[in-house]
Amino acid sequence: MAEKFRVALSGDFKKADGSPTFPDFDVTPLKNAPGVEITYLETANPIRPDQVADFDALILLAPRFARESIHPNGRLSVVARFGVGYDNVDVPACTEAGIALCITPDGVRRPVAVSIIALMLALTGKLLIKDKLTRSGPEAFNKRVDHMGVGLVGRTLASIGIGNIGAEMFRMARPFEMKFIAHDPFADKTVAAELGIELVSMEDAFRRADVLCINCPLMPETKHLVNAERLALMKPTAFLINTARGPIVDQKALTKVLSEQRIAGAGLDVLESEPPDPSDPILKLDNTILTPHALCWTDQCFAGNGAADVKAVLDIQRGRTPNGVVNRPVLQDTRFKARLEANRGRFGG
Ligand SMILES: NC(=O)c1ccc[n+]([C@@H]2O[C@H](COP(=O)([O-])OP(=O)(O)OC[C@H]3O[C@@H](n4cnc5c(N)ncnc54)[C@H](O)[C@@H]3O)[C@@H](O)[C@H]2O)c1
Repeated sequence: MAEKFRVALSGDFKKADGSPTFPDFDVTPLKNAPGVEITYLETANPIRPDQVADFDALILLAPRFARESIHPNGRLSVVARFGVGYDNVDVPACTEAGIALCITPDGVRRPVAVSIIALMLALTGKLLIKDKLTRSGPEAFNKRVDHMGVGLVGRTLASIGIGNIGAEMFRMARPFEMKFIAHDPFADKTVAAELGIELVSMEDAFRRADVLCINCPLMPETKHLVNAERLALMKPTAFLINTARGPIVDQKALTKVLSEQRIAGAGLDVLESEPPDPSDPILKLDNTILTPHALCWTDQCFAGNGAADVKAVLDIQRGRTPNGVVNRPVLQDTRFKARLEANRGRFGG
């Protein structure tokens, strides 16, 4: 019988009791695909080469896929990361070995954009403060007049970065009738024009924002992009929202401006250190909403990530170029192209 197209899933897709970590990740399209066989690996970190030697594809959750994880037999075609972060994958090593790394922008786009909107509405509506007032007796209840919210019409929504998530955030914010501005040195100008986003300098984004959202990747150039100097440009009535990566914000500097009420508040799904140190002063601030790098975690987010990974793997099996390839030069790699060609012959059509 012809050799199957073998797909491995990292062991952490199952809990210790054998039940699925994410029940909304539907693997049946893989199980039902003709010629495909799936196997859950035993838990290992990093992934060992002997574990993936006999596989064509790996769907990866949290373990590291390091240079030493690659088996020299050259069978593996794709590492499909569940999510869009890939700090756990050695990308140059994959490229050198002709292995494609795919991520799932289609899975996270809407859920993260929704979480930004949720933080914006909660901050400007003083949601958590009003929740607390209601629970704290009649005297607190009667202080509601001291906690006026901020209406959004005509206010300025700013973003640092308008890629996958930043653009979706603006798309979702359209009914709020806000002004849209963004700073992104590599912005897709067509997308910006379609969404009515004015592209501005970094400093203008900080200066003009009523709500400033961070939607760029963490890279050496963006570490502490939000620093004391730029925070000082913000209006005292403005809010900062970070759902991107913690180290993009100098958290010490942010804590200082928040505690001195030099900006109105912050919504942070990500922190410089996760989980935060219990003594971190940011945990004490009333004008800050904190969530555990999981505000976007919904049934639909995990179903979407799973569907995107399954599609990438099935595309490879059928000899088609998948979406969401991070290391695009691999698409020209002769070994990768030969594997796709062979798959097209065996399973395509
Ligand atoms: N909180 C979560 O659970 C969660 C989930 C998914 C993604 N994220 C994070 O959200 C962020 C955005 O993800 P995405 O999928 O939209 O990424 P993306 O790559 O599609 O978009 C990022 C945008 O940032 C721009 N950019 C790069 N350098 C910049 C700079 N110096 N200044 C301004 N803009 C710059 C890029 O040109 C691009 O348009 C990332 O940091 C990602 O890690 C968080």
